[in-house]
Amino acid sequence: MKIIQASNYEEMSKAAYKSLHQFMQMNQHPVLGLATGSTPEGLYRLMIDACKKGEVSFASTETFNLDEYAGLSKDDKNSYRYYMNHKLFDHIDIRPERAHILDGEAADLELECREYDQKIMEVGGIGLQLLGIGLNGHIGFNEPGTSFDAATHISELAETTRKANSRFFNSLDEVPTKAMSMGISKIMESREILLLVSGEGKAEALHTLLTGEITENFPASILKNHPNVTIIADQAAIGGKKFPDQVG
Ligand code: GLP
Repeated sequence: MKIIQASNYEEMSKAAYKSLHQFMQMNQHPVLGLATGSTPEGLYRLMIDACKKGEVSFASTETFNLDEYAGLSKDDKNSYRYYMNHKLFDHIDIRPERAHILDGEAADLELECREYDQKIMEVGGIGLQLLGIGLNGHIGFNEPGTSFDAATHISELAETTRKANSRFFNSLDEVPTKAMSMGISKIMESREILLLVSGEGKAEALHTLLTGEITENFPASILKNHPNVTIIADQAAIGGKKFPDQVG
């Protein structure tokens, strides 16, 4: 894993945009895996600015989001569909039918997961997968204990995750207990992965990722087995520690 150490959140976002832009230039029909949460918001703002200035076009891009809460409608302010539409898709030239997110209100969630993997396969897999990391090492909504072999699936949210994400809801009770998540095996099939880590709250997770063993109890640890992962972390997340530029 290559590690890029950025001075702050803005610099982390700029470095992420640079990688994404390079990927976009090298692919005529780019397939992006996208994430939600606070971490990628700066990158999404840069993508919007660049698109508005004509520096990049997403007209032939296909995107697949990592996860979605079960039971939330696309109009619910806390659904990831709402987040993505408002923070990215509505402001760039992507064709709406090419911006895929699991449907949290699907009648059959299991079927929804299987069809999602099928769609990813039909477009030839994900080229560049963007990731954030949860406090407990989750990626997407793959919580500790999830099999590394898991395909896209329904996930029971860990209490740490529900508490961390309750900042977006009126109360902890409103945070769904279930979600759907692209599986770890699917994430690992991406040709390139960009993991963004920001803020002192993530320092422990980053340290565990870089120094700990590969275990299903810390899902992000599997990334050490992927041949093309770049971590872009800001100084707050690095927390004054010395990490080499390459790990694993
Ligand atoms: C959330 C999402 C993840 C995200 C992570 C970190 O629960 N399901 O996809 O990467 O947790 O979020 P944040 O960037 O807000 O810290």
